[in-house]
Amino acid sequence: MERLRMAVVGVGHLGKEHARVLAGMPDVDLIGVADVNVDQAHAVARRIGAQAFSEYWPLLNLVDAACIAVPTSLHELVAADFLRRGLHVLVEKPLAPSLQAAQNLVELADRHGAILQVGHIERFNPAFEEIQRRPLHPRYIRAERLGGFTGRSCDIGAVLDLMIHDLDLILAMVQGPVRTVDSLGINVFGGREDIASARIQFESGCVADVTASRAHPVPCRNMHIWGPEGYAGLDFAQRRVTLVQPSAEVRKNGLDPTKLDPASRACLRDELFVRHLETLTLERKNQDQLTCELRHFVDCVRAGRQPKVSGHAGRDAVALAERILAGMSRQTWTGIPAELLFSPHVDQEVA
Ligand SMILES: NC(=O)c1ccc[n+]([C@@H]2O[C@H](COP(=O)([O-])OP(=O)(O)OC[C@H]3O[C@@H](n4cnc5c(N)ncnc54)[C@H](O)[C@@H]3O)[C@@H](O)[C@H]2O)c1
Repeated sequence: MERLRMAVVGVGHLGKEHARVLAGMPDVDLIGVADVNVDQAHAVARRIGAQAFSEYWPLLNLVDAACIAVPTSLHELVAADFLRRGLHVLVEKPLAPSLQAAQNLVELADRHGAILQVGHIERFNPAFEEIQRRPLHPRYIRAERLGGFTGRSCDIGAVLDLMIHDLDLILAMVQGPVRTVDSLGINVFGGREDIASARIQFESGCVADVTASRAHPVPCRNMHIWGPEGYAGLDFAQRRVTLVQPSAEVRKNGLDPTKLDPASRACLRDELFVRHLETLTLERKNQDQLTCELRHFVDCVRAGRQPKVSGHAGRDAVALAERILAGMSRQTWTGIPAELLFSPHVDQEVA
């Protein structure tokens, strides 16, 4: 089997991990890594035994596919150069900083027959994969993605940096169009929102409350999902799923406390999670998401198959993010000095 010739463009915090994993794949030939930070390019290249480049364009003639992990504001520029040549691309999330740029990349990939995957890595989180295997029709979702400020990704705010993960997961679970979006954002460090909250209502009736913060002392990446089948709680960091579903007896006969005799009603609290609601906790510690994501990309390129996080999916997440950002710019505040509040950085393309 011919080895897939690949490059990684941008080998900073995340790109160097892409390079490390790809260098270890038996069916991949990691031709080179490119970074405008030449020292970084050389340090990474030396570690994995690849060639270092200070610019990515020489690689356009040397590879079949590339991973793009430059800052988001450069995704469109760099990815477009590869896609135009029919080269396959995995672009880190978010696909692009605007819907227009994301759409351009999707159209380029379609036109040139190139595979375009987006690095929404939580799709490969075993906790999320577990609930995708189960019948669950979300009616209410609550997601929180909180952490401390890393000083990276300053070209985007918390919506495109963090919340985008949950927007993609929600769109993967809930079918149908979004009816309304209510949102607000608060900036702490600069001109972009560092804390963001949104309520998304789907035409189907499903409601999702999503919060993201990069100004939080305690990291947390959770999602709670309620549906007619029961409840699923996901801890992305621990790769743990907690499932709660009505017991067979409750599914058959229902549970109406007013019809219980006084003794059974008195025991209800103690028996709730023993007799009436079945709880199952699953932990999937030993699965490396980045390896799974990159393995999937390589397999899709080899098979000419659409990846599960396609350019279209990445584009849809950016479209929803853009609605959330537009909603923030409409938020009005009274009684608080303006300089303490989120100053709406409305990107031209959002306005
Ligand atoms: N999937 C995830 O969970 C996840 C996590 C972190 C970052 N990201 C995404 O990955 C991307 C990179 O983030 P990061 O945290 O690694 O940033 P980073 O700043 O650590 O790395 C970016 C690298 O790109 C290089 N670069 C800049 N312009 C370049 C160019 N024209 N050509 C080649 N290299 C160039 C920089 O020198 C730097 O080394 C962002 O889009 C970010 O949103 C995704």
